[in-house]
Amino acid sequence: MSSYRVKETPGDTAWFHADRFGMFIHWGLYALPARHEWIKTRECIPEEKYQKYFDHFDPDLYDAKEWAKMAKAAGMKYAVLTTKHHEGFCLFDSQYTDYKCTNTPAGRDLVKEFVDAFRAEGLKIGFYYSLIDWHHPHFPIDMLHPRRNDLDAQEQNKTRNMKIYAQYMRDQVTELLTNYGKIDILWFDFSYPNNKPELGKEWMKGKGKEDWEAEQLIATARSLQPHLIIDNRADIEQDLWTPEQYQIDEWLRHPKTGELLTWEACQTFSGSWGYYRDETSWKSPEMLIRMLVNTVSCGGNLLMNVGPTARGEFDYRAKDALKVFEDWMHGNSRSIYNCTMAEPELLKCLPPDCRFTQSTDGKRLYLHIFSYPFSHILLKGLAGKVEYAQFLHDGSEILMDEGQVDHFSEGAAKGDDLLVLNLPVIKPPVHVPVIELFLK
Ligand code: GLC
Repeated sequence: MSSYRVKETPGDTAWFHADRFGMFIHWGLYALPARHEWIKTRECIPEEKYQKYFDHFDPDLYDAKEWAKMAKAAGMKYAVLTTKHHEGFCLFDSQYTDYKCTNTPAGRDLVKEFVDAFRAEGLKIGFYYSLIDWHHPHFPIDMLHPRRNDLDAQEQNKTRNMKIYAQYMRDQVTELLTNYGKIDILWFDFSYPNNKPELGKEWMKGKGKEDWEAEQLIATARSLQPHLIIDNRADIEQDLWTPEQYQIDEWLRHPKTGELLTWEACQTFSGSWGYYRDETSWKSPEMLIRMLVNTVSCGGNLLMNVGPTARGEFDYRAKDALKVFEDWMHGNSRSIYNCTMAEPELLKCLPPDCRFTQSTDGKRLYLHIFSYPFSHILLKGLAGKVEYAQFLHDGSEILMDEGQVDHFSEGAAKGDDLLVLNLPVIKPPVHVPVIELFLK
């Protein structure tokens, strides 16, 4: 059994640690301008002008069943959808606002279709809910808000009452956790209490737990669905730590107690979260697979984002990227599901340019080869500990030697504890080849 103990938290994280891989979906009105989900505030677009995206939101090709099939095929076990992003637009039929998809040409509750389709494919369901809201009339203008440069911004704030907005969030979270059955993850986003406003504009201060009334908000959520995994971005520690667009190289630990944490890296295919037509920074297939492997090798999950188009589809580049995961996971998912960071003793044997994961029953060690070497991998310290070795993708045997490479390999490492894996010269056609080691 894996010897790692993860810090206990209120939500049910057992399935999460086993499932490891999920799909993030950022979808909203920003899919129409198709140049970043923050466009409303980046370009300080006034409400009247942003309205055109609402009026033209017509995702006629949206087929949640297709999305769910693609997520499942890619090996993803859960999905987190933006029910509302910072722009304030709701993808669900909320009774507390008119700013929702049912009032656009879409005319349907898009969250409902998502939930039904993904659940039918056996995926767990997560809701992203933005704490920030650049549409709500009671959300006070701050340094991130599209109205921040208005000459009368401070004046406008006099009619904005954060308490009303905090109640709005509780009401909407109640709807989300009442009308759609069992929800597994609630992903709040995000707090910025320490953002410093410009000199002389102190009233524009950032927002944190007091502003959101986060304690009450979380209590509301837990009273409806106690098992929920809730992230930390409401500025109160909950179940989930969420490093964003960053690759971790050690299991995240609690900054005060040092305990191991439940964590999830979120990553994009190309940089932005919403659909960005002209973005050219799409990650290579190798990089995508390495991110997944690296994450699990440090005891974490990967939440990989797709930004669907305004027509309601995954664009061709996103489909290609999902196919990369599909092909790799088809033969290699055994090194991901129910796997975690290898035990410390084994980690000491990790060769260069490789990552280990280990099954949580402790019986199998997976060696992921990031940079394919010529003919041998030397595992110092593993001699006598491995019963059998094979490539995971095709189950073909990897011959092993112990003690030394062979008698002509002058200068090579030797020693009783040395295990030598003999590789074919040609790298198999797998972005990251995996060797499965059956431990004695
Ligand atoms: C950031 C961004 C946001 C994105 C999120 C995903 O907080 O504000 O656009 O939704 O990260 O982690």
